[in-house]
Amino acid sequence: MRNLDPRLYTDPATFAAERARIFWSSWQMIGPAAPLAEPGGYIATEIAGAKVLAIRDHDGGLRAFRNVCRHRGARLLEEGTGHCRMIRCQYHNWVYDLSGALIRAPWFGDREGRAEGFDMADWPLEPLSVELWRGLAFVAIRPVQPLAEQLGALVPEIADEPIETFHPVAERRLVFDANWKTYTDNFVEGYHIPGIHPGFFQAIDFEAFETVARDNLVRMTAPPREGLFYKGKWLWMWPNWTLSLFGGGMNTSRINPLGPGRTELIYHFYFADTSGAAAEARADTIARNIAVVEEDFGICIETQKNYETGGYAPGPLSPRHEQGVAWFQNRIREALEQAAAE
Ligand code: FES
Ligand SMILES: [Fe+2]
Repeated sequence: MRNLDPRLYTDPATFAAERARIFWSSWQMIGPAAPLAEPGGYIATEIAGAKVLAIRDHDGGLRAFRNVCRHRGARLLEEGTGHCRMIRCQYHNWVYDLSGALIRAPWFGDREGRAEGFDMADWPLEPLSVELWRGLAFVAIRPVQPLAEQLGALVPEIADEPIETFHPVAERRLVFDANWKTYTDNFVEGYHIPGIHPGFFQAIDFEAFETVARDNLVRMTAPPREGLFYKGKWLWMWPNWTLSLFGGGMNTSRINPLGPGRTELIYHFYFADTSGAAAEARADTIARNIAVVEEDFGICIETQKNYETGGYAPGPLSPRHEQGVAWFQNRIREALEQAAAE
């Protein structure tokens, strides 16, 4: 199998099709569920540019909405996590309750806000789908399948890992200039480890590195040698999130496109031991993990430039090491074919 056509990594029309057919049609892992524990707790974020929020309402229900005011479209909650008693738009002070109902539209009409033909009941926030799974929060704009079905082979893969007992302790956002697929192609293969991650290469038995791609999961494993913070299992899930196990913890990341040539990674780090005594060890694991992630940026950025300038024709993919790349790229081809057929 050949690598994807490089034009698919730069073309604005392809990016628009991916937003609609992939990012806005799938469940998106938006981070740990912990901020949604109490009424009013929320997570506000973007899914390929679409502003969304998930929130625990006053009755204990879980809800998600577009983070978009129904009046003139302002953003409601600033991106991040927090706590609120109601959702107030800072533009003209419309106020929504935690169930999404519009409850105040001050100065809209007469002294009470009334105006001919205007009924606040007609202007609730636009609801979205939201679910929790094993301590992680997922939001979907227009899901084409149930969450459990999308999670596919991940569910049995980590059934024995106590991931919901790990506590989220840190978030890191990393931004770089490459298409989200350039980064994903890189994530789903271990072929580049000797060249790009010499320290990491020394810390695993690379000859025993294995990649298996099936049912929305690319699973990479390698026996760790002494002193590696990774447990030796790295998972990538369709369409754009990852989970890597440590001894006594894990990270997750979401690969979120900001544009055809710009991408953000939203990383979360979780640990079983949150004691003060282990603080230094946690900080060390996070720093070493981020260093490995950042080692990939240079190669992705320069590869992206070669895709942009037309100086590259698709080359062959390794049957031993790049079956994850092939699996991912086939899903991309399918999604773009569906988009073209519409
Ligand atoms: S846009 Fe939100 S109140 Fe006007
Ligand atoms: Fe890498």
